[in-house]
Amino acid sequence: MAFIRKDANSVPIVDTVFAVAVRAQQDKQQNGDLVVDATIGSLFDEEGRFVAFDSVFDHYDAIDHRTKGAYAASFLGNPDYCRDVYQWVTQGSSLSLAHSVIASPGGSGAISMAFTAFLDKGETIILPDIAWSSYELMASQNNIRATHYAMFEDDHFNLNSVKDAVETCMDLQGRAVLVINDPCHNPTGYSLTPAEWEALVDILNEASKKGPVILIDDIAYIDYSYDPSSSREYMNTFNRFSDNVMAVVAFSCSKALTSYGLRCGAAVILAQDQNAVREAEIVFEKTARAIWSNIPNAAMANFSWVVTENREAYLAEKQKYIDLLKQRSSIFMREAEECGLPVYPYREGFFITVKVDPAKTEAIHEALMKEHIYTVTMPGGIRVAVCSLPIRKTRGLAGRIREIISIRKREPLCLQPQPTLNLPESFMKQCRKSRNRRLPIFRCIISALRARICFSFTVTCFCPTP
Ligand SMILES: Cc1ncc(COP(=O)(O)O)c(C=O)c1O
Repeated sequence: MAFIRKDANSVPIVDTVFAVAVRAQQDKQQNGDLVVDATIGSLFDEEGRFVAFDSVFDHYDAIDHRTKGAYAASFLGNPDYCRDVYQWVTQGSSLSLAHSVIASPGGSGAISMAFTAFLDKGETIILPDIAWSSYELMASQNNIRATHYAMFEDDHFNLNSVKDAVETCMDLQGRAVLVINDPCHNPTGYSLTPAEWEALVDILNEASKKGPVILIDDIAYIDYSYDPSSSREYMNTFNRFSDNVMAVVAFSCSKALTSYGLRCGAAVILAQDQNAVREAEIVFEKTARAIWSNIPNAAMANFSWVVTENREAYLAEKQKYIDLLKQRSSIFMREAEECGLPVYPYREGFFITVKVDPAKTEAIHEALMKEHIYTVTMPGGIRVAVCSLPIRKTRGLAGRIREIISIRKREPLCLQPQPTLNLPESFMKQCRKSRNRRLPIFRCIISALRARICFSFTVTCFCPTP
């Protein structure tokens, strides 16, 4: 007998990050410093310790117990928190749209609340093809379908693919809801250029002639932009939104304040028309009331204190880690270029993603772990979390990954002979057939080929190349 509702998805969550992180921990117990753990998407320092900013937590610890224990002032969030979030999120821009801020449990709450506010069951959301996996789950949990735009065309953002997806959704359901994770995209570290933002707004405005368009801009990593002072300038393009375009900027204190566990974030609703914003706000507030009721009071109070009274100390502490991210990522990117390791275009932020043939991702990921290198698989690649990787372990890593990938590239020769062996195609066909029919003679030939290739691997691995 099934107790859960009929359309619930009872397939267990496969938390790939957690599972790999556990393996990395076990390996560390046996092999200590040999292990390269690039799985965790949180800031770690050069000694491998989780970072929790003193400029955030010293004050949090001193907050009165009654403030910590009390309910928030409103389901929308404490008014001073909402005001401070708006100022923080839009600082340095000259955004002039109508707006409302609704507190949420992290960026996750804001994003998922936006999915359900704008789409009915069975409708489709537009997601990046390379993305944080929770978007898919948020959609499927709410019986929302997902379609994808290709993130990249060569080394730049694929505006054509976004345009196609937006137009297709508009034709299909009379509205389009699009997720952009920018700046500092997880998992590639890409950030759209100002020109790409201008062109994106043109696409949204054009599509909005046929129906409402909603842009969900997930800014979870914005506070690690390499140029913090200009990180919000792109929001000025929102001032050109037509009346039929709305944005929800999903803000998170998790990364910004290194307070992942305090579950504090916000949805910032933006549009030309105050009434449209108010309408969305009502729906958001009801979602909040129905699901989490209110956000931890002390987390909101602490954010306000950090970004106002302790702003300078906080910015200085955060900047140290931005500088560290810059160092780690520039080492990895420079070495990747030197050794020819293909990576997606990286600009800034916590992650770099190595481009990998999707058919080989799992095998390469496994091969890396055999060499004590722990990463996370993503659609189209392997994510390296430079946020948690000390400099000494970043050095040489690109070359090691490149070497392991090139071995895996040659390995399928064992099963699928490659033309580089210069064997006639007719022979190859026989080999493949023979494996199916299991003819002993061809099994012998394949074993011989395997031995020859394994020998060549050994030579490649142990003889330094010039
Ligand atoms: C791309 C992206 N968006 C949003 C979030 C939301 O995090 P939180 O709910 O902790 O704010 C994460 C967390 O890993 C993320 O990677």
